[in-house]
Amino acid sequence: MAVIPVALAGRGYDVVIEENLLGRLAAAAAPWLQNYAGGRKVPFVADTNTHRLYHAGVDANLTEHGFAAEWFVVEPGEDAKSWSSLARLTDWLLALGVTRSDHVFALGGGVVGDLVGFACAILKRGCGFVQVPTTLLAQVDSSVGGKTAINTAAGKNLIGAFHQPSLVLIDPRVLGTLPDREMRAGYAEVLKYGLLGNAAFFGWLEANSAAVLAREPQALEHAIATSIAMKARIVAEDERETQDCRALLNLGHTFGHALEAETGFSDRLLHGEAVAMGMALAARYSARRREISADDAERAARAIAAAGLPADLPALGLTCDGARLVEHMRHDKKKEGKTLPFLLLRNLGEAYMARDVDLRDLAVFLDDALGRS
Ligand code: GLY
Repeated sequence: MAVIPVALAGRGYDVVIEENLLGRLAAAAAPWLQNYAGGRKVPFVADTNTHRLYHAGVDANLTEHGFAAEWFVVEPGEDAKSWSSLARLTDWLLALGVTRSDHVFALGGGVVGDLVGFACAILKRGCGFVQVPTTLLAQVDSSVGGKTAINTAAGKNLIGAFHQPSLVLIDPRVLGTLPDREMRAGYAEVLKYGLLGNAAFFGWLEANSAAVLAREPQALEHAIATSIAMKARIVAEDERETQDCRALLNLGHTFGHALEAETGFSDRLLHGEAVAMGMALAARYSARRREISADDAERAARAIAAAGLPADLPALGLTCDGARLVEHMRHDKKKEGKTLPFLLLRNLGEAYMARDVDLRDLAVFLDDALGRS
């Protein structure tokens, strides 16, 4: 078991990591359930998968402690992060009589967590919520740090708010039912922590990726706890990403978003897979700028590939050239001009924000990486 505090003045909270935590959810979340002791239903939001897998166990556990849940269930996938599901969810919460001092429980992956977090940010100008993330990606990244959002026609996560949860409950055992591809995609975000700021953790992951991906309990808990401890430190230092500190969490994401855009934000390339490829590109581009050695860049790419994640652009089967990927990056950052801020590596375990990346040079590099030159 590990308890990691996120130290934010006036709105700090704990992230609790424990095997079978879902089985004792009522005890773990006791202070946040007290408002419902009079018999009001506890609002739980899930997707159809997490509802099917866990609602019976959660209902039984709550009943044992004298509580009862009311469930709001969304379809799995990004479509649930929409204005229409936000409206349905907030109407449902209002109909349940949720007050500003109540807590709503989000049981699911990043989509459920982001949707519930944003609904709670705006419901009666803000009520509480508890994150119970059920994917590796949500456990090590999106459930911690208070970024909440929905998507619109103009892009992903463009409407949102910083709204911190009151508690994050992580049960690594739920990852046993996660499809392997999603497990690997979440693992990309774990590797990210090693690459961006913890060389020793990166070395540990090189030796232990198979154990983590096989969900061996000790290895998995160590990987999750180390990732969250790093994220908690970064969020405490730069909650609203007003300095470069929190931005480091976006290592691999600028390349990754361009690849997601080129593949239509589809199952062809999951977000975590795009980030993995993006980190390999960031490492190789850092080597091109002689900031790390070519050997170190290949070491990073090998760690990515060893986890079954994409580390070589031709494997994605793209038909575009480097200039088109750069256009996606410009659009993503809403920037004109010859440069974009870019997260690169100074060492394996040390990322930094470069502000002098020449986009023509980047397009040439990407053409090389695509095998087009
Ligand atoms: N996922 C990046 C962040 O939380 O800042």
